[in-house]
Amino acid sequence: MMHVFLFLTTLLAAYVAYAAPIQYDDKKVFVISQKPTLTPHYMPQAKSATVLANVTDPDLSRDSCGSVKMGSRTLWTCRDTSVRIPGTNQFAYVFANTAGWTDHQQDDAPAIQVGGPVGAGSDGANSILLMNGPRPTLPTFYPLGLNMCPNSGACDDGASRWTAWPDSPPMVTETALDGTVTAYTWVSNNRMASSSLELLTPQPSTTLYKMTYTPDPNPDVLPAVATVDGNFWGDHEIAYGTYGNVVRGEYAYLFGLLHPGGVALARVPVDCIENKSQYEYYVRRRWTSTKPAIDDPTAAIPNAGTTGQGTFYYSDRAQSYVWIGQASLSVSADFYIATAPSPEGPWTSPYLLYSGPNGDGDLPSYSLQAHPHLLREYDDGIYLTWTQYFKPSTYAAYVTPLVYVSFV
Ligand SMILES: *[C@@H]1O[C@H](CO)[C@@H](O)[C@H](O)[C@H]1NC(C)=O
Ligand SMILES: *[C@@H]1O[C@H](CO)[C@@H](O)[C@H](O)[C@H]1NC(C)=O
Repeated sequence: MMHVFLFLTTLLAAYVAYAAPIQYDDKKVFVISQKPTLTPHYMPQAKSATVLANVTDPDLSRDSCGSVKMGSRTLWTCRDTSVRIPGTNQFAYVFANTAGWTDHQQDDAPAIQVGGPVGAGSDGANSILLMNGPRPTLPTFYPLGLNMCPNSGACDDGASRWTAWPDSPPMVTETALDGTVTAYTWVSNNRMASSSLELLTPQPSTTLYKMTYTPDPNPDVLPAVATVDGNFWGDHEIAYGTYGNVVRGEYAYLFGLLHPGGVALARVPVDCIENKSQYEYYVRRRWTSTKPAIDDPTAAIPNAGTTGQGTFYYSDRAQSYVWIGQASLSVSADFYIATAPSPEGPWTSPYLLYSGPNGDGDLPSYSLQAHPHLLREYDDGIYLTWTQYFKPSTYAAYVTPLVYVSFV
């Protein structure tokens, strides 16, 4: 009985939310919107989950990796990366961000191998998805700005560092006829206290980077990166694009976090990413060219992610937008999922999809990511990764498990 009552009130709430006055024969009539608000949402559940491999270049310990397909390979962009001291299990020299490639099999599935070089996440016998690419160098893949203690980001005072940590993988906007890929990434200009990791600018400005890549058989060739604007979004502005993004049709949809809480949405024609006057912002349930303030609650899209780290994508199979990521304030490998018929919503409440094994460190699991482009057309499921963090006495490198979750 109680359930029926709750169901009815939910239904009514859904109707009221979408009811709007319309003009009809010179009269204003109040009608229920034509929008099919009661269309059942795509709400996949895990049918099975398989831990497949660690994603790794065994000579590098890589934190917080995301991925995107470029040409016939997958590009991984990661945060702090340190280099194995030859002949040891120790890693040193931190690079604020790096990139590398993984290959695909002939049938286009990720080229997982059993065994391989020994190092981070690889004891020589376990399965790995091998990352290739150049040894890290300075300047980093996404170069630090001239004001950011170049080139490493580590300041001479020894007390602070600039991180240039990507929150989301590159967003591909174009693949030309000759295969040349154009992509963009927004990275927050974070400066933190080296010891406490406290952010010295709580709502920092954002750099826009552009990548250009002509597919090359040599995996040591990475996309060329150019800084479009080191202050694309200013201090205390919503960092649209950092929280996630989806390109679909003629638009790029860019998600950014509000402060103190919530997720906001902007859109821009996909061929105008660099032109700020082409951006529109979703505020009070409509698109406007006026950018909202970072504390404007009417700019929030309910349930478009938990505000924990994750990935947005569009599922062609399901004809649905999807967000998969971590609960807000969680440090566990508990993957939540929310879906919506359009980026503006309505989004389902995030619900638990899959729980993976955690590390035993202070931050056991974080940087939860989904990898939609690793899927083949007929795969009904999703690849997931996260960073497992162990106590140094347990394991001295970051580990990136790759899991396939099939859906029902
Ligand atoms: C990943 O690496 C860790 C550390 O070497 C290891 O314990 C774990 O079994 C590996 N996982 C897989 C799926 O190979
Ligand atoms: C940016 O967009 C505006 C508005 O459409 C247009 O007038 C302007 O020419 C564009 N700027 C560039 C550099 O393309």
